[in-house]
Amino acid sequence: MSSTRIAVYAGSFDPIHNGHLDIVERCRKVFDETIVAVLSNRDKEPSFSARERVAMIAGELTGYEDCRVESFTGLLVDYMSSVGARTIVRGLRAVSDFEYEFQMALMNRRLNPSVETVFMMPREDYIYLSSRLVKEVFVLGGNLTGLVPDKVLEWLSSIKDERFSD
Ligand code: PNS
Repeated sequence: MSSTRIAVYAGSFDPIHNGHLDIVERCRKVFDETIVAVLSNRDKEPSFSARERVAMIAGELTGYEDCRVESFTGLLVDYMSSVGARTIVRGLRAVSDFEYEFQMALMNRRLNPSVETVFMMPREDYIYLSSRLVKEVFVLGGNLTGLVPDKVLEWLSSIKDERFSD
């Protein structure tokens, strides 16, 4: 078995924000490789397609030799096996995240007992941040400076009329 420590940082990332990128930086300190794994299941009805989310994340990982981004379908544990990884990373912001995360971690462990889930806390400035709130504040014209990368703001602007209008 490979001794390379691989983190699979899984999520919807619809879109990625600075709280997510803070977790990527933390992964890089602990793991040899970090794979940002973007769920591409259609039933979640994302604002951005998997291809778009992968493209915007790839832009943020430019120059990071130890990081890559991929999309996946189906079970996360199956994707983990396909890339030879055993550690799922999830960001934990507040107690309200706990129940959902606890259920997922235990289900994933049941599906594949060799998979462990590791939780990382983002910087305090980002503990209230979510992709849902990013989109809501954006649509309502609020200031997102310091909360999302500039390029993500450009992506949001580019789809605003097409996907965020009533
Ligand atoms: O950012 P999110 O939406 O909270 O991420 C959730 C995600 C993508 C990690 C989770 O929905 C997932 O792993 N989906 C893949 C399907 C799967 O494996 N389901 C069983 C997990 S308990």
